[in-house]
Amino acid sequence: MQRFTGKFALITGGTNGMGFATAKQFIHEGGHAIITGRSAETVNHALEQLGPNAHGIVSNAGKMTDIWKLREEVSRYTDSIHLLFVNAGYGKFSGIATVSEEHFDELFDMLVKGTFFTVQQILPLMRSGSSVIFNTSFVTTIGTPHFSVYSAAKSAVVSFIKTFSAELVDQGIRVNGISPGHIKTNIFNNTGLSKDDIDSALQNIIPNIPFKRLGEPEEIAKAVLFLASEDASYIHGEELRVDAGISQIR
Ligand SMILES: NC(=O)c1ccc[n+]([C@@H]2O[C@H](COP(=O)([O-])OP(=O)(O)OC[C@H]3O[C@@H](n4cnc5c(N)ncnc54)[C@H](OP(=O)(O)O)[C@@H]3O)[C@@H](O)[C@H]2O)c1
Repeated sequence: MQRFTGKFALITGGTNGMGFATAKQFIHEGGHAIITGRSAETVNHALEQLGPNAHGIVSNAGKMTDIWKLREEVSRYTDSIHLLFVNAGYGKFSGIATVSEEHFDELFDMLVKGTFFTVQQILPLMRSGSSVIFNTSFVTTIGTPHFSVYSAAKSAVVSFIKTFSAELVDQGIRVNGISPGHIKTNIFNNTGLSKDDIDSALQNIIPNIPFKRLGEPEEIAKAVLFLASEDASYIHGEELRVDAGISQIR
């Protein structure tokens, strides 16, 4: 399938995990992917694997000085973005009593403020028929201890799906979200947990997933590309759950 021939995607947090898998699949279907990440090292490493139709920008979704420069940097490659996948991020988890102001601001700056202003800045490059897709999470539907700040930040992103879809409908820009379950990525590596702690957390998590396995980043990428394609031409304001049913089944 070549659904994106000659089109450009901007994928924030495209150096790894779901963002990288989406960039790879978008290029495979004829498109160009512009990816962001926080360091030249991670961005260049991803570009080497993605090939000549990939372009990279070092940009931190939690830093407004970087976001203000993003449109100009993207404009070096294209004046028309077909897919904006607002995906950059990670979780930090702590009990209510021990959440610090830094923890709170770090997650809200990156996941809420960064998400909002990334879309605001890129919209002038988006035309009728293009799509904004937000990466939310199943944790907005389930109360999970130690997830209070992360879940609240992702819930704000769920709200953006609704408000942005209402506001952008007249421009012909479709707005949707993807809500992943537990996906096999580097997400735990930003938490400060040791490898042993991560392994033991996963041993507790996997039996509670209806399919008894983590999702693959490629399973998210396929859903993102579906939402960005003509196959989803009548889908707008939707949050598509790709979570093996974990948000629905007890
Ligand atoms: N994995 C899960 O189970 C899961 C479930 C639901 C939702 N999510 C969400 O899915 C999204 C992608 O995460 P992932 O699971 O694919 O994790 P991942 O493998 O760690 O990838 C995260 C990506 O985001 C980038 N990134 C992180 N912080 C950034 C920042 N401040 N500015 C710019 N780029 C940043 C990373 O790039 P650099 O390291 O190069 O900066 C990397 O490319 C996140 O929003 C996460 O909250 C994950």
